[in-house]
Amino acid sequence: MGYNGGMQTPVTIFAIAGSLRAASLNLALLRAIAQIAPPTFEIRIDTGLGNLPLFNPDLDADSLPAVAAMRDAILAADVLMLASPEYAHGVSGPMKNALDWMVSNTSFIDKPLVLLNTSPRATHAQAALRETVSTMSARVIDDACISLPLLGSGLDAEGIASDPVLRQTILDMLQRIRAFF
Ligand SMILES: Cc1cc2nc3c(=O)[nH]c(=O)nc-3n(C[C@H](O)[C@H](O)[C@H](O)COP(=O)(O)O)c2cc1C
Repeated sequence: MGYNGGMQTPVTIFAIAGSLRAASLNLALLRAIAQIAPPTFEIRIDTGLGNLPLFNPDLDADSLPAVAAMRDAILAADVLMLASPEYAHGVSGPMKNALDWMVSNTSFIDKPLVLLNTSPRATHAQAALRETVSTMSARVIDDACISLPLLGSGLDAEGIASDPVLRQTILDMLQRIRAFF
């Protein structure tokens, strides 16, 4: 991060979509962000959410490879980006499962975090997510959190990335992340 001999060090982002659906809008949004992002960002999209066991505090988290991999990816990133669907006015089960696994390690503590929402009407899940990550001591970058009207759009990652309005909203969001540091 910051300036180093005139070269801007990339901001690294680890991004998790809270949906296991192949045609997930939340995953499509993350893919679009990775496509659009200038080289001053390095974006890694999580592929391990579905490999996490159901949260059970009796299990030794450190000995579970999927849990350790997610923890290490979050710890290594400058920014954590979360995009969760709303199911029945709540955060998706897979996303909440991941968050519960991360409570007992240090990965969320003081971690700059951005919340993305693919449906502006899905306010309950966003509010719950914000409450949970704040309780886990993450630092939500408020002005970089965005809601995009993607539900029902039929757009995939390429469609999102090539829509001029969506593209500009995403670039503005990335600029606000950059300004945070
Ligand atoms: C079981 C179920 C419950 C849902 N409940 C809500 C809801 O309470 N509020 C809402 O805005 N959308 C709701 N939706 C719509 C999803 O949030 C929407 O389909 C979203 O795109 C799913 O995320 P994905 O495209 O990343 O898989 C629900 C969808 C399903 C399948």
